[in-house]
Amino acid sequence: MTRGCFTGDHIAMTDADFIRGLPKAELHLHIEGSLEPELMFELGRRNGIDLPFKTVDEVRAAYAFSNLQDFLDIYYQGAGVLIAEQDFHDLAMAYFRRVAADGCKHVELFFDPQTHTDRGVAFATVMDGLLAGMAEAERDLGVTSSLILCFLRHLDEDAAFVTLAQAEPYLDRISGVGLDSSEVGHPPSKFARVFAAAKAKGLKLVAHAGEEGPPAYVWEALDLLHVDRIDHGNRALEDEALVKRLAAEGMTLTVCPLSNLKLCVVEDLKDHPLKRMLALGLKATLNSDDPAYFGGYLGANWTETAAALGLSRGELVTLAKNSFTGSFLPREAVAARLAEIDAYVAGVG
Ligand code: ADE
Ligand code: ZN
Repeated sequence: MTRGCFTGDHIAMTDADFIRGLPKAELHLHIEGSLEPELMFELGRRNGIDLPFKTVDEVRAAYAFSNLQDFLDIYYQGAGVLIAEQDFHDLAMAYFRRVAADGCKHVELFFDPQTHTDRGVAFATVMDGLLAGMAEAERDLGVTSSLILCFLRHLDEDAAFVTLAQAEPYLDRISGVGLDSSEVGHPPSKFARVFAAAKAKGLKLVAHAGEEGPPAYVWEALDLLHVDRIDHGNRALEDEALVKRLAAEGMTLTVCPLSNLKLCVVEDLKDHPLKRMLALGLKATLNSDDPAYFGGYLGANWTETAAALGLSRGELVTLAKNSFTGSFLPREAVAARLAEIDAYVAGVG
């Protein structure tokens, strides 16, 4: 990472400053994964729910994961404090305040309705709380957003169909469906029919694939689910033909470096494949996944990955542009953001 230094006639801009000012979108963010321990305790108190931890430090100390399942066990437990519409609103607003400070202009956020409806929280409670937070963030912070409803893949396809039916009254406020939770053993093929039903309703399609699962799961997401984006996709790099296919189709990958580090998908950020993905012509984007659990929001993912991989300004600009061209924003909104990026780059020289 370059440091701000006096060079004679001007102060050089640090990479962190450059990144903060660069307009960017976040396309892979689980809103339940932005639940900070402080808010977890506050909501636990508000809702009379006991947590198996006494202090915020104790919670953070428990965030040592060896794999995805280790994380998911604690993530679902944490989400248990979310009960009322206000809780979902407060969760969303806490996230939007953090990410607005990182120069994020647009978010396509995942939510896991089954995590809540299976505990007796109404689908409408989740939706109304999140939508209220999203409207407030647009009004007060200038951050636009849309919702992607994720099906939990460790549950069955019938349960996903029930969730899709619950979403019916809200379809005009949901941009797409996704597939998350425990990957290995739950291939995309398990959800082919519910994804087809979602597509018939005009929804966009995304799926986690190749985070821990093999390249075959990425092929299935493409060929059986017909996704518009792949979430993660790291393990696609093991299959040359798959890389060629993803590059030829301009398929967006929503890559999450600090998540990959915390879940031991990579051993060291210096080994992260993001730079290699760009060099292979893959349309990668940079995202935070579950920032409260993985040690960094969008800005930290950008700055720490840029430092570890030595990303150039050109590569950073490509990543920012990919975050908008890979989004589900209307064409004119994308064009406006690309023009903003060009103006920003021209302005900082
Ligand atoms: N749910 C929340 N975060 C997830 C991740 N990184 N992978 C799969 N499911 C998730
Ligand atoms: Zn994810």
